[in-house]
Amino acid sequence: MLLKILGAAAGGGLPQWNCSCSNCQAVRQNHADVSWLNQSSIAIQSTEGDWFLVNASPDVRQQLELLRDTKLLSIRANPIAGVILTDAEIDHTTGLIILRESAQPLRVYGTEIVKKALTEGFPLLKTLESYCGVEWSTLEVGSTVSLTPNLEVEVFALAAKAPKYMRSQIIAGDWVIGLTFSDRSTGKVVTYAPGLAEYSDRLLKRFEASDCILVDGTFWQNDDLLTLGISTRTARDMGHLPLAGFDGSLHYLSQLKHPRKILVHINNTNPIHIASSKERLMVEAAGIEVGCDGLTIQL
Ligand code: MLT
Ligand code: MN
Ligand code: ZN
Repeated sequence: MLLKILGAAAGGGLPQWNCSCSNCQAVRQNHADVSWLNQSSIAIQSTEGDWFLVNASPDVRQQLELLRDTKLLSIRANPIAGVILTDAEIDHTTGLIILRESAQPLRVYGTEIVKKALTEGFPLLKTLESYCGVEWSTLEVGSTVSLTPNLEVEVFALAAKAPKYMRSQIIAGDWVIGLTFSDRSTGKVVTYAPGLAEYSDRLLKRFEASDCILVDGTFWQNDDLLTLGISTRTARDMGHLPLAGFDGSLHYLSQLKHPRKILVHINNTNPIHIASSKERLMVEAAGIEVGCDGLTIQL
């Protein structure tokens, strides 16, 4: 199995267009210990199989160039066989519209509630009907889907948090899912969970049984944005468990023995972006990596 981080930042990227926090400024000034990052997305393939994009960020055009290989011989060929969505958030879905030039309908996988959101609240699927069209495959929580003969994905529930644009309607459903990919040819397992609100024993078991996990590293403290004066919402209000604190993500992740642990979906304000920060050193001391764009993991 081969996995590539195409975007390690959360929505907005690093730097974010309207942000002058110390991280965004450091990137603009080309500081050596921080780099420019695209918005949240990964790509995955089994050995010799097709690439699947997991979440389609607004940066998808540049991101897909990271998958280009010279084997694509025809003049028009998609570098991906499909797009798998973990939620209906704008940072994870807007890229679908950028892919409208596809010569075939785009194959998109997501839960039923995500389909509803992308049809009614943020009608990307409806809009795409007039371009390439979409072949939608519904993902059910608890089910396992074969993507290719060697690559399968198991779907698990992570949070019930609807995107802001759907909050006027109160609809319960599988708004945020996590994905466990298995490669039948190698037996290797990867779990991707970019929107993680809380830990449970079941989730920890799933992580421990994986060879590699890519996990929500959005915020450092629960009140990061309040301290900076840029929001009144906490990390937990936004469905992201912070890293620090006695019951933060680091506490749980540091207990896992087997998997390689990598943080993704890292907000531009998070001090762990700075390689020399004390927060970054704490993460690394706990045996956890900070994801970066282009990081390729072969399992
Ligand atoms: C999230 O990850 O919580 C959302 O993408 C936030 C947003 O609306 O940008
Ligand atoms: Mn997000
Ligand atoms: Zn910033």
